Amino acid sequence: MKLKEPPAIIPALDLPIGEAVELVKGLDSVEDKIAGYKISSLHALDCGLRAAVSELRVFTDLPIIYDHQKGATDIPAIAARQVELAADCGVNAFIGVPLGAGSKTLEGFVDACKDSDLLPIILLEMTHPNANDYLKEGAAKDIFEKASELGVNYFVAPGNKPEKLREYRNWVGDSYITSPGIGAQGGQAAEAVQAGTDYPIIGRAIYQAENPVAVIEEIYKGCKEGFSKR
Ligand code: XMP
Repeated sequence: MKLKEPPAIIPALDLPIGEAVELVKGLDSVEDKIAGYKISSLHALDCGLRAAVSELRVFTDLPIIYDHQKGATDIPAIAARQVELAADCGVNAFIGVPLGAGSKTLEGFVDACKDSDLLPIILLEMTHPNANDYLKEGAAKDIFEKASELGVNYFVAPGNKPEKLREYRNWVGDSYITSPGIGAQGGQAAEAVQAGTDYPIIGRAIYQAENPVAVIEEIYKGCKEGFSKR
């Protein structure tokens, strides 16, 4: 499984499922600018992942990316079970965050994604202040190297830290970067895409907007501009 060619936007549907469905219906005219929809642990806790996927599937064929916020932090066997269950619920990709759990969990998670035909997307670094307080220096590089060895080619890196994005862009080469941190957390789409992100992950800036279609069009314009300057 691959996401469409970059740049493209990944709306984060951090809304009750009924509202998420309405948003997805409303974005039909701009789906060519959307790589997939991100749903999350909020849906799993609220209505259940299976129900959330089946409600969204009525209105979109785009990939559904599951963000367990933060999945892949448990022992390898449980991370693998999380992946199997998510696949059974019908998602197409799963974001794994092995920071704090280590390489065996990363391996268990990625192997389970391969077995379940899910696209693994691995987080290298978070966006918010003090995100790295409990991490050793070089953790992102260790995760990147191990994940690459396992065949991962989609990563998450902070869209509000352009200097870090430039560094990660150099590491990943032909692989892809998805990035939260744009909009509500200060990152700019054009700058982030120019620096290295392929797929901005955007929640509040889209779903809290009066006109989400116009916001997608505007952000996409920024993405194209940034991409052309790489
Ligand atoms: P907003 O509303 O800030 O939503 O556009 C961001 C989405 O991305 C998820 N997510 C992260 N957000 N830093 C973030 O800001 C991260 O490192 C990160 N990892 C994932 C977040 O849960 C929300 O769905």
